[in-house]
Amino acid sequence: MALDRTTPNDLRAFWMPFTANRQFKQAPRMMVAAEGMFYTTSDGRQVLDGTAGLWCCNAGHARPKIVEAIQKQAAELDYAPAFQMGHPKAFELANRLVDLAPEGIDHAFFVNSGSEAVETALKIAIAYQRATGNASRTRLIGRERGYHGVNFGGISVGGIVNNRRHFGAMLAGVDHLPHTHIPQNQWTKGQPEHGANLADELERIVALHGPDTIAAVIVEPVAGSTGVLIPPKGYLQRLREITRKHGILLIFDEVITGFGRLGSAFGAQHFDVTPDMITCAKGLTNGVIPMGAVLTSAEIHDAFMTGPEHMIELFHGYTYSGNPIASAAGLATLETYREEALFERCAEIAPYWEEAVHSLKGHRHVIDIRNMGLIGAIELEPIPGAPTQRAFSAFLKAYEKGVLIRTTGDIIAMSPPLIIEKAHIDQLIGTLADVLESLD
Ligand SMILES: Cc1ncc(COP(=O)(O)O)c(C=O)c1O
Repeated sequence: MALDRTTPNDLRAFWMPFTANRQFKQAPRMMVAAEGMFYTTSDGRQVLDGTAGLWCCNAGHARPKIVEAIQKQAAELDYAPAFQMGHPKAFELANRLVDLAPEGIDHAFFVNSGSEAVETALKIAIAYQRATGNASRTRLIGRERGYHGVNFGGISVGGIVNNRRHFGAMLAGVDHLPHTHIPQNQWTKGQPEHGANLADELERIVALHGPDTIAAVIVEPVAGSTGVLIPPKGYLQRLREITRKHGILLIFDEVITGFGRLGSAFGAQHFDVTPDMITCAKGLTNGVIPMGAVLTSAEIHDAFMTGPEHMIELFHGYTYSGNPIASAAGLATLETYREEALFERCAEIAPYWEEAVHSLKGHRHVIDIRNMGLIGAIELEPIPGAPTQRAFSAFLKAYEKGVLIRTTGDIIAMSPPLIIEKAHIDQLIGTLADVLESLD
């Protein structure tokens, strides 16, 4: 059927991302405003944001400092070429970012999304190995159930079947660690006891391919989009030991765990494990303007700073790398986090959150609950023959009752803004309890 190009509210032209388009367009869920912890819908309802947008609005919505910084920057310097030219705010933001990062992480390369951060980190890893005389190190190791965005590198090292199966052969030379979701850890609060030994599978992969073929290992410190998998105690430390032993770079994909979600600036500090590179995005600008970054050690950066000084050192970058408005938003976001001590706030309220999330144990269909920082997941028993349907119904019912959650497979995932109050947690969990009881 031809599109009606004259009716502004014809919904057909927009092909929505990661969305059941036909279902949505029959019963649209439209947000028209947002402030603090709440969205306003087109039918005038207030919906509690249980997901910080898409794990990105860590400081909540319509934060004055961020709004003002964007408005001011748009009027002052809207755009400056990203290649061979600069503007002060991108440099300032890079400094502020590496100040927040763990000791040993000293440089920031700007991109526009988590997916681009991942592609950039993978390319830097391979190019670094080449620059340091290890050109045979081209293999990349990801993990089953990992999510690293949607571009070809990211889906290749990623491990979510539906994100991969439709898109051909992907990158060659990729292998995967096993995921860490094992039955012994059911109902664990915080970090599970069992499964550190799963990191030893890296030794098996190294023995299979030879260490001199492997450039990097990439993992999320807490796997988010697959339905929240918390690393077993000692697991990330073990990955660090094995990668270091074999000269393999370790990349932490902190697109979700960055900027306070676990109660520290990055998951690296929370788990006390320093990788060679960190990818981040989302909370970097409070989700308001697209921006991401790859943070690297000085050793990686410095390996490229050779050759004639008029030559470009890394043949990579985007038109919008370090965009002025995104940089201004990033600076105002980091300032908001600091002024309101939001990372510390997350750590303070996390025990209340943990108890609230785990209080859903015993409700209908619930087969596991996991949490860490301000992240929580409720895993539901799938309807036989109709996977994802039960969780999707929970999402729709929660939205009707004024609460925004996210679902992936049959798992409900929550990641509220770090400004959440105890009364909001009670509303969120209380609504979910009712929703669970009402599900088929
Ligand atoms: C760990 C991780 N990496 C990468 C991405 C991709 O980010 P984007 O959607 O900004 O491309 C996400 C998004 O959820 C993520 O969680």
